[in-house]
Amino acid sequence: MSEIIRFENVYKEFEDGGDTIEALKETSFSINAGELVAIVGPSGSGKSTLLTMMGGLQQPTNGKIFFNGQDISEMKEKDRNDLRFDKIGFILQASNLVPFLTIEEQFELVDKFRGSKHDREKAKKIMEKFDIYKRKNQYPGDLSGGERQRAAISRALYPEPNLILADEPTASLDTERAIKVVKILDDITKESNRTTVMVTHDNRLLEYCDRVFKIIDGQLTEETADK
Ligand SMILES: Nc1ncnc2c1ncn2[C@@H]1O[C@H](COP(=O)(O)OP(=O)(O)OP(=O)(O)O)[C@@H](O)[C@H]1O
Ligand SMILES: [Mg+2]
Repeated sequence: MSEIIRFENVYKEFEDGGDTIEALKETSFSINAGELVAIVGPSGSGKSTLLTMMGGLQQPTNGKIFFNGQDISEMKEKDRNDLRFDKIGFILQASNLVPFLTIEEQFELVDKFRGSKHDREKAKKIMEKFDIYKRKNQYPGDLSGGERQRAAISRALYPEPNLILADEPTASLDTERAIKVVKILDDITKESNRTTVMVTHDNRLLEYCDRVFKIIDGQLTEETADK
């Protein structure tokens, strides 16, 4: 199996008015292509911090993070940006849709940023997968929370990233739809040997994941599989 992400003795702290918050205690692990990984833990335990470091959006205080064997911190800023645009799909906790563009235009924007040709058919297919195509001419503000979330997921998947980092992608969905979304993520992960790391509060989704990482007060442990 090929390794996509590796954390080596990674530690992250924040200073908060004289206090030091240990957002992630020292940890080492690696994640392979083809794996769907869940991150669980209480609010404030360090899940988003872990996820954003995986995507190179934040740097660790200590330790090294490798993407495809390359040390992210040693990459030039430009290469790090290219990596985020080409290889990583972010689904952030706050929906990152652009408010003044329709759903369909959000997909066109992806190609504008990347300098790639827009593929209307491909965009349609992925929107249909998440049952959002019929809302393609609406603005994010006119969609329900769940529709916005599905639109954000499909937009993140459209450029076919190797690594999908999703912060509570199913938070606004009912259980049935949440399971459906996770199954689609799992299919996509397996089908094209990609990797998905997903933060979730919903224990019912864990059985669809290959691995489960748990964080409590910044301490990461891996649950042993019982599936
Ligand atoms: N930029 C920052 N400056 C200071 N403290 C921060 C910063 N970012 C996160 N923290 C703190 O680090 C800890 C972990 O935050 P994080 O956002 O990773 O938690 P989380 O597990 O994602 O929580 P939630 O489930 O509520 O989203 C929290 O105590 C948070 O207040
Ligand atoms: Mg969070």
